[in-house]
Amino acid sequence: MPAPTSKTLSRILIVDDDRDMRTSLADLLSEEGHTIEVCQTGVEALAAVERSHPTLLITDLVMKGMQGLELLRAAKQRDPLLAVVVITAFGTIETAVEAMRLGAFYYITKPFKSGDLLLLVERALEEKYLRTEVQRLRREVESHYHFDRIIGKSAAMQQVFALIDRLKDSQIDVLLTGESGTGKDLLARSLHYQSARKDGPFVAVNCAALPEQLLESELFGYIRGAFTDARADKKGLFVEAHGGTLFLDEVGELPLSVQAKLLREIEEKEVRPLGATKGEKVDVRIMAATNRDLRQAVADGKFREDLFYRLNVVEIHLPPLRERPEDLPLLIQHLMESSTQPTQAKRFSAEALRILLNHPWPGNVRELKNTIERALVLCQGEEISAADFPPYLIAAKGSVTGLRAAFLSQRSLTDIEREYILAGMELTGGNKKEVAEILRIDRKTLYRRLEEYGWKD
Ligand SMILES: Nc1ncnc2c1ncn2[C@@H]1O[C@H](COP(=O)(O)OP(=O)(O)OP(=O)(O)O)[C@@H](O)[C@H]1O
Ligand SMILES: [Mg+2]
Repeated sequence: MPAPTSKTLSRILIVDDDRDMRTSLADLLSEEGHTIEVCQTGVEALAAVERSHPTLLITDLVMKGMQGLELLRAAKQRDPLLAVVVITAFGTIETAVEAMRLGAFYYITKPFKSGDLLLLVERALEEKYLRTEVQRLRREVESHYHFDRIIGKSAAMQQVFALIDRLKDSQIDVLLTGESGTGKDLLARSLHYQSARKDGPFVAVNCAALPEQLLESELFGYIRGAFTDARADKKGLFVEAHGGTLFLDEVGELPLSVQAKLLREIEEKEVRPLGATKGEKVDVRIMAATNRDLRQAVADGKFREDLFYRLNVVEIHLPPLRERPEDLPLLIQHLMESSTQPTQAKRFSAEALRILLNHPWPGNVRELKNTIERALVLCQGEEISAADFPPYLIAAKGSVTGLRAAFLSQRSLTDIEREYILAGMELTGGNKKEVAEILRIDRKTLYRRLEEYGWKD
């Protein structure tokens, strides 16, 4: 249904127990081209609101049976955006104030001139149009570009959002994959808090952060006396996540021994703490995340194939930022607005923005976020300039424009090579190993070149 505008013709519902008033209003407004429906009582009117979704309701305040105010309250409940014009008799100003509180912002006292009423109707419709439009835009922003503060308008991210939408009501285990900083953590939390388990716990464990032994006791718990230091029972994270979600971050780093145990507990939905003879039933949704290629890890014998298939019921893959440059402007804006850093900065200079938009962001959204936060702190005025970025970003930008300039001034390849290598030496603090690696040349070649250039350590 197109949003009504004051210019398009609207459906107007007129409620008045006074017949003359009803007909004169109906005549006046239908002459303007609006579609009119008239009712005698509040009860009838309410039924009409539900049935024919009018754009505007014109009601008298004092009627037999259901009063205008009651009608307003009930009608607004059904359609909060319904435009309302209230007709009041002289002396009912308090009721009119009450009506305004209920969101009927337009009222007119009897007797009134037709012109005044038409003007009021026009204004009420205009406002209704604006409010509908604001709501529509807000919904659009929420549904398209904004998924619980996860930004992404690229087709790839839209697919991720659609998948999340389908998964949120299921209990299916999920594997999140993608390079570091692409938002796996954010997405897992978001999925949990949108799911039926949202009131249950979200327990995250970083599988890379703990040594094998500790990881096992953290995950599954132990009972007193299970080993020398086990002086009391300890609940494992599995049990703590009961009724909620257990997020196994960096699952690719799980030692093989823990993988075997994990698989067993997931399949049996039962946790057996170290030293216990009996398991305990748990109801846990597993979400796992990794920035490693788990298929490759399986092929290399580093990850159990059965566990891989068990975790990978559904895979949500987060694409790297460089593959979705169309998300950059929105992300930049979002990260700037949501930052809590104290700053005067309000915008980016054209050059700064160009750098942000051209960088390939190997560290993905995390790198972008850190860059923006840093710039917000360093920035001295209202405009963030290139100088507020870390040197490596500016250097990267320099190479693009610099190379164009170099070509235009007809410099030779040998010349540029020398400059490139020397710039590398300077930026790495003279680290030949690093420079050779980055330039992908062997170290001997680098030494030879440096000798030619007269480089002194
Ligand atoms: N689409 C996005 N919209 C808004 N913020 C994002 C988005 N993606 C990532 N972020 C932000 O970027 C940062 C890194 O994201 P997150 O920690 O979820 O990455 P990750 O994939 O778990 O990385 P790692 O593999 O290194 O653990 C977080 O601060 C997160 O809030
Ligand atoms: Mg993470």
